[in-house]
Amino acid sequence: MRLGDDQIATFDEQGYLFLPEVFSAAEVAVLAREVPGIFAQERQEVWRERDGKAVRTAFAAHTYNEAFRRLAAHPRMVGPVRQMLGGDVYVHQFKINGKQAFDGDVWQWHQDYGTWARDDAMPEARAMNIAVFLSDVNEFNGPLIFIPKSHTHGTLKAGHDLATTSYPLWTLDRATVRELVEAGGLVAPKGPAGALILFHSNLVHASPANISPWDRTIVYVSLCHVDNHIRRFKRPEWIAHRDFTPIQCLADDCLLELASQAAE
Ligand code: SIN
Ligand code: MN
Repeated sequence: MRLGDDQIATFDEQGYLFLPEVFSAAEVAVLAREVPGIFAQERQEVWRERDGKAVRTAFAAHTYNEAFRRLAAHPRMVGPVRQMLGGDVYVHQFKINGKQAFDGDVWQWHQDYGTWARDDAMPEARAMNIAVFLSDVNEFNGPLIFIPKSHTHGTLKAGHDLATTSYPLWTLDRATVRELVEAGGLVAPKGPAGALILFHSNLVHASPANISPWDRTIVYVSLCHVDNHIRRFKRPEWIAHRDFTPIQCLADDCLLELASQAAE
């Protein structure tokens, strides 16, 4: 899958690109059916909300689950990122965010590169965030909210918030968010499972709590150019990976192939 010039121009201007229907319902099913089993595991990679029960995020599933291993090397995801970043990429971070019905908590306003620069010493914002919807995302179940054009401001001042949720995050202050929203507005890309969003690692984003009865399961994969790998190993390896091997893409039907193997 290659992006057209108009799509690249939209990304450069807005800081994100929403691509509906990248994965079929059958492909989503191959991934979604693995999620309850992963979330049920008591392991350090499965991080819970403050209630200690609902899963906030499950890190690094591509290292211990075959379906997610295949997603991490899927050409429809990796191809456009290689194109945008100009060469080989590796997986810097991989998470399945639960945002579970009723209990899924907020993600405060932040830039991902802010964390990667401060905590991981990633040299440049030469890394891409990808969101893959494994459930339908609507206005009620805690959609991701972007401030369009906010990626053009570089890495903004941030404070380390260790209190608001169960997960530490470098977050922006209200005055900064207000100013950015006055300039760029807000958008919350929504749609059926199978959609994919590419978003700039300096794009400011957040999401509200999920008070609906519907889970909002999104996989977030952060791919970094191999030359731009992290220099500091402060965070655990399963949060900020240290294997900088370039991703070798699998075949386009790799998820369906797994489904047919399971049916045999
Ligand atoms: C994130 O920004 O890393 C997660 C946001 C979300 O899952 O809504
Ligand atoms: Mn983020």
